[in-house]
Amino acid sequence: MTSFSRRRFIQLGATSLAAYSNAAILSGCSDGSDGNGFATLNKQALPQDEQGRWWLSNNYAPVLEERDEVGLRVNGEIPRALNGLFARAGSNMANTDHWFLGHGMLHGIRLEDGRAAWYRNRYVHTSLRAAGIDEVMPSEPTSSYSNVSSVYHAGKFLTLGELGLPYEVNPRDLSTVGVYDFAGRLNGSMTAHPKIDAVTGEMLFFGYSFAPPYLTYYQANAAGELVRSVDITLPAAPMMHDFAVTEDYILFYDLPVLFSLDMAISGSNFPFAWSPEHVPRMGVMPRQGGDSDIRWFEVDSGFIFHTMNAYQDPANRSRIILDASRIDPPFWDNGNQDLAQPSHLTRYQFDLDTGMVSEQRLSDAFLDFGQLDRRLVGRPYRYGYAMEFPASGSASALPRPTTIVQRDHESGTLQRFEAAPGLALDEAIFVADPQRTGERDGWLLCYAFDGVSCTSSLLIIDARDVAAPPVAKVDLPLRIPYGFHSVWVPDAG
Ligand SMILES: [Fe+2]
Repeated sequence: MTSFSRRRFIQLGATSLAAYSNAAILSGCSDGSDGNGFATLNKQALPQDEQGRWWLSNNYAPVLEERDEVGLRVNGEIPRALNGLFARAGSNMANTDHWFLGHGMLHGIRLEDGRAAWYRNRYVHTSLRAAGIDEVMPSEPTSSYSNVSSVYHAGKFLTLGELGLPYEVNPRDLSTVGVYDFAGRLNGSMTAHPKIDAVTGEMLFFGYSFAPPYLTYYQANAAGELVRSVDITLPAAPMMHDFAVTEDYILFYDLPVLFSLDMAISGSNFPFAWSPEHVPRMGVMPRQGGDSDIRWFEVDSGFIFHTMNAYQDPANRSRIILDASRIDPPFWDNGNQDLAQPSHLTRYQFDLDTGMVSEQRLSDAFLDFGQLDRRLVGRPYRYGYAMEFPASGSASALPRPTTIVQRDHESGTLQRFEAAPGLALDEAIFVADPQRTGERDGWLLCYAFDGVSCTSSLLIIDARDVAAPPVAKVDLPLRIPYGFHSVWVPDAG
């Protein structure tokens, strides 16, 4: 690495801030903290929704052009082991009443042989987009915005919308191949958070529905064939965003955010509501078991969007440890557009012998979007990663993280990557070094947005030293709107 250093990062950020500050005085525009993680934000250069909807303003606002960029400027050195596509999914709608309801768009950067070959953004060409339909809740299996996440398994790159079927996309150019239903074996929704068991090669997932069966569990083998479906009995239709797996068990979260028929009848496009009367519980199902084998554990109330990992205690395999980010109750008291309530990384321990469950907050920091070295999904692991959110959230805006945390579960300590001043981050994912096997042998990749220049970049951070400056930063001549989840599609695999 040449002159690229943390100090240089800070200098660059400070220079930009100073330049903008002067420009703001000259132009007479005002600025200030907007709850998005910025002390300064160039609002004049960013769309502002006339109705003040945060998800259509500033860098949440959509980009309406599909672009191709080459000749990208790289600061530092891109690791030569990183050959593949980094992509992030997001909701991209010019007018919508909920951030979750927008046409899916992928923003991808191809890395090869130590260079950034191209950036490209493409809509996912779903049937909803083709029909010009927006602002509705996808309710048919084939209707989906496909905007939440994506997954690469058995040679297929799939975008996922949580509601509706996946769409297959070509990772070489981000073109949409078409709706994907596992050769006709999937006829309902697919979660945006499937788990790939790195040992067996299986992809495990679920789908939820507004009508019974409210929940169905699926298992695809290493070849990508959907070989098992299990309908699961639930008392109501929960919004179930994520789940967890171990070597022998599947964990489901039956928590008090439920589909609301009243809201649907009254015209809500996103009819999910906090339902405190619903008993919060988690179900533990043997991986080869069925509906009647599930053990349900009542847990403290709250809501979980994201799992970090789960595993069985090697000393007692009837003891299951689950790390997930929990939002304290009540959730969505201000309505379901409020996504600013903080989450805390929480450790659940289920004892299948005694039927006991315990819960422990692992950190007072606001941590969500948990990640790990995915070679250890469902297995004991030492290091977890998460985005740390600022404490200044409000229902009128979703604050952006500026810090990535690496938690050492053995020592309980946190290492932090702090973004340079003026940068706000999207989800960081761990990408393993294919030539090394150590748990921290890999990099954290994420998009960053500069609130002054209104351009985005890709950061590559060495997971062995997360507090250090990025080993590489790929600058883009455009902005990438904030979105949801990222993926790495390796060339080989
Ligand atoms: Fe998610």
